[in-house]
Amino acid sequence: MARRLLIAGNWKLHKTVEEAVALAGDIASGLVRDDLDVLVIPGFLALEPVALSLSASSVLVGGQNLFWEDQGAYTGEVSGPFLKAAGARYVLVGHSERREYFGETERTCRLRVEAALRSGLLPILCVGETQAEREGGQTEGVLESQLAGALAGFDAAQAANITIAYEPVWAIGTGLTASEAQANEAHSHIRAWLGARFNKDVANSTRILYGGSVKPANAAGLMNQPEVDGALVGGASLSAESFLGIIQAA
Ligand code: 13P
Repeated sequence: MARRLLIAGNWKLHKTVEEAVALAGDIASGLVRDDLDVLVIPGFLALEPVALSLSASSVLVGGQNLFWEDQGAYTGEVSGPFLKAAGARYVLVGHSERREYFGETERTCRLRVEAALRSGLLPILCVGETQAEREGGQTEGVLESQLAGALAGFDAAQAANITIAYEPVWAIGTGLTASEAQANEAHSHIRAWLGARFNKDVANSTRILYGGSVKPANAAGLMNQPEVDGALVGGASLSAESFLGIIQAA
């Protein structure tokens, strides 16, 4: 089954509202391809202004995280309905930086995936092993437990709305990239797991993105791998030139 590529830019804690709107405009005006999906993921404050500025463009907007309750006395949180109302279509769940710095666990990932689906947002569940886990031969086990924990209790119809991002922690922001073969192998393992846990249709249709030091120079090789269905780009998504370079190369 041909899966449409998704190239997503996670702007993390970068870009003020003004800078984010300018970057989104540069990306939208430089985009010449319509055979793939392009997504930008600004910080929360910039999300609605960016979504409004892109309303006439095919570029989609997503959130970097969401809380699992829809509303209430939860100071400092942002929920699915709020993201949806602001113009988000997608939302990241379980990014390794959330796991490392903000106590994200498999249980809280699962709650966030459920909240995203309930709000009509498409969750992008991030999984990936650390360097020590890779060196210890634990990559597949780590991926399986992250997937099993975050997707516990969901059925195939729900799973059909989920995108997976494989982001090896050792390749994020380090300049180290998984080799094409390493990425394809991990994606293939994730797809096989989806097939066993849900069904063949879910396995065949789920987009699995690669993230970790994706740049214009390595994008084509990675995107050409049969199991790689797009990219989740950090640093290289912060300039229109390099993000558009990745989109062109994909
Ligand atoms: P870099 O592209 O900066 O390595 O970041 C990857 C990432 O974490 C995207 O979510």
